[in-house]
Amino acid sequence: MGFNFDQVPNRRNTHSYKWDQSEKLFGDPDILPLWVADMDFPSPPAIKEALIKRAEQGVYGYTFRSEKYVDAIIEWYRKRHGWELSPSCLTDVPGVVTSLSLCVELFSEPEGAVILQSPVYYPFYDVIKMNGRRVANNPLLLKSGRYEMDFEHLESLMKDGARLILLCSPHNPGGRVWEPEVLQQLGELCERYDVIIVSDEIHADLALPGYKHVPIASISETLAQRTITCLAPTKTFNLPGLQSSFVVIPNSELKRRFDYRLKALSLHMMHFFNNEAITAAYTEGGQWLDEMLQYLQGNVDYALSYLAEHLPEVTPMVPEGTYLLWVDCRGLGKDIQGLKELMYKGARVAFNEGSVYGAEGAGFLRINLACPRAVVEEALRRFCGAAKEIANAQ
Ligand SMILES: Cc1ncc(COP(=O)(O)O)c(C=O)c1O
Repeated sequence: MGFNFDQVPNRRNTHSYKWDQSEKLFGDPDILPLWVADMDFPSPPAIKEALIKRAEQGVYGYTFRSEKYVDAIIEWYRKRHGWELSPSCLTDVPGVVTSLSLCVELFSEPEGAVILQSPVYYPFYDVIKMNGRRVANNPLLLKSGRYEMDFEHLESLMKDGARLILLCSPHNPGGRVWEPEVLQQLGELCERYDVIIVSDEIHADLALPGYKHVPIASISETLAQRTITCLAPTKTFNLPGLQSSFVVIPNSELKRRFDYRLKALSLHMMHFFNNEAITAAYTEGGQWLDEMLQYLQGNVDYALSYLAEHLPEVTPMVPEGTYLLWVDCRGLGKDIQGLKELMYKGARVAFNEGSVYGAEGAGFLRINLACPRAVVEEALRRFCGAAKEIANAQ
């Protein structure tokens, strides 16, 4: 391997949300944080070099997006995903959640129902509720250890009037990479009931070895016409602090409305650093990503076998994509508070507690595995040790 993912970076005292807020939130300076979804790996070196070069200009003025940046995005999706994007479909947005929120506001009615599939990344709930809409929940079904969509219930929500769905693909927190047949079936229902699809594909590049992400809008032109795809380089290359994302909207009327609202909120300008950083990411970051995914698979394999050996009461969902491990801890017999105490007090680790992803997530924990193996080892050692100690004391 060319890149060293084993080195543990010191992120303390860097204003890192994950490392520097954990003490305040969980009450222990030595807590090991595997919660916030960023990586404890340095980004590809080419990005750092591009950022330094850009910073050296010393004048940080208004910026427009360059052709190179657009070409880099288009080439990446062509090569990596076999998806042909037209520059006229692309709009830059500071963040994916910003796009989700704008889409809810623009493409659903006040107090209207918006579909999500629980358990899911918790801002999905926020953008629905905080825009004055109602959550129409289509809970995912846990079948043979992985999530499946409940198409029957989904159709009933559409029959009842829901006209917008927020899709998480690949799925956070379940680590599911939806197969084209599943997306096709979802798409057919959306066509039948005239439902607009907002597909959050921020984890698109993080399909693990052996799995392939398929953008729902790439399945057919008719689906593309009713889909807003939200994409970003930020999960892929560990750049969330740069606030960079974009949407793909092939339908010109939907795009016109989206762009208009984005401008009304003055969110349409390019960040000073992002032309250079994102161009470098998409043109020079491929090798780093491939190696990172291999390393991540090693972390997944390690975590699965460690948990099987040391804490068989819990059942991790084997991830197909994302760097998140979703662990069914209901076998430990603890309620939400009990799981929090086990993590923060007993084990001194911070994973995400599952009920924030919806009621169906209660009893689960989400572990961020995008960190050096030594950190995964230490976190699991602490967690399994504390769980056993508590069980023995009872
Ligand atoms: C599914 C999903 N969407 C969006 C985001 C955040 O995107 P952004 O920081 O661009 O708003 C995350 C981050 O964890 C995520 O997992």
